[in-house]
Amino acid sequence: MNSSLSVFVGTPSLLILSQSGLSKNPRKGFFMPPQPLRIGLAGLGTVGAGVIKLLDENAALVSRRANRDIVITAVSARDRARNRGVDTQRYAWVDNAPDLASREDVDCIVELIGGADGPALAMARATLAVGKPFVTANKAMIAHHGQALAALAEAKAVALKFEAAVGGGIPVIKGMREGLAANAVTAVYGILNGTCNYILSEIESTGKSFGVILAEAQALGYAEADPSFDVDGIDAGHKLAILATLGFGSAPDFDAVHLDGIRCVTPADIDYARTLGYRIKLIGLASLENGHLHQRVGAALVPMHHPLAHVGQSLNAVVVEGNYVGRLLFQGRGAGEGPTASAVVADLIDVARGEWGPPFAMPTASLSPLPKADADTIAERFYLRLTVKDQPGVLADITAALRDQAVSVESVIQRGSDTHGDVYFVLTTHITPTGAMLRALSHIAKLDSVTEKPLLMPIMN
Ligand code: HSE
Repeated sequence: MNSSLSVFVGTPSLLILSQSGLSKNPRKGFFMPPQPLRIGLAGLGTVGAGVIKLLDENAALVSRRANRDIVITAVSARDRARNRGVDTQRYAWVDNAPDLASREDVDCIVELIGGADGPALAMARATLAVGKPFVTANKAMIAHHGQALAALAEAKAVALKFEAAVGGGIPVIKGMREGLAANAVTAVYGILNGTCNYILSEIESTGKSFGVILAEAQALGYAEADPSFDVDGIDAGHKLAILATLGFGSAPDFDAVHLDGIRCVTPADIDYARTLGYRIKLIGLASLENGHLHQRVGAALVPMHHPLAHVGQSLNAVVVEGNYVGRLLFQGRGAGEGPTASAVVADLIDVARGEWGPPFAMPTASLSPLPKADADTIAERFYLRLTVKDQPGVLADITAALRDQAVSVESVIQRGSDTHGDVYFVLTTHITPTGAMLRALSHIAKLDSVTEKPLLMPIMN
């Protein structure tokens, strides 16, 4: 099957663009209806089963929108016998996922295996190398290898699509790549991890600790057995690196994302934040600071009047600021069977229509690395929570460290005493260079009177 873009004229009034699939009927001299797009699906977990269900249930609609049928012909997963609630017997079974790419009856691969390297990467390379389109939900692989894969796709003039990699069902990739293509993006930020948002929402509503809520979420299947990718900010960091690339035309640079998670956030922090007029959220933020790229993931205080403060439970939301469009908010379900399948099949419809534009909104050669923003060039307001001994002189030592770095305190809260006789001491600062705040914090953390690791969080505007 020819996978390069062709233009066919059907009737005088009909111009059909197709990546493949149109063929001439030798008997009548007219073009036959487009051939189906035949999918090789690797990974039959929750999302894989969702893709099968969606393609079954919405087959007619998908076919009308794509102007051709989209059918799965072959699948690959670890366990052939497992009951997935969908009929997989009708598809050819392939034990070694990368072998899907070279099958004659497969025009396009959907990869739902996950992992930055290993079989997913091998399959992406094999698929693009033979000139077939590749659709994936794999944020880790795109964050680490997206540029090289995009170059491969470009060289073969085929699609590399990853709408499901960021924000699940929210069409933020397409929104940024296409809808915002005319804008200079000044900032992109949001709630990029549903597990963290769920845990923070539950801490707030129940007053239980991070550890208790995490254990409950794991028992309910909302959090992974190994939760570190989610709760340490790595998953959100992968997504942020992809959004930053789309927004700023920079080479994807996951290693430059400053990562912090939510393990240190206590019910008391959530309570103090509320008293101050904020809600705590895990925020991924990328911005341009004088030509330098600032990328960070971490717990942050979001003003109650900001829309992101009202994105609760496992929802995701992304804010994009463009110089002509202004501020946009994308919000919805960032994970799960239905939303992620919705994004994967939207990509397949694009592929079926023959769309294969640059994966990151511009040719790969135009993506240029941006220098990392220095902590002294970024200025923010901060929330600092300290656990300190309740004794004379403690506040004087803390404020001296802040004074020495020219950090100006905006407000202070000290309340009660915990069972050890230590107290929480919370302060917020006026806008201050991050570097100065970090130097002051390094000094404060070493004081004898500070008895636990301090928690520092930026306060969003
Ligand atoms: N584990 C992610 C989350 C979903 O909790 O948002 C997939 O990226």
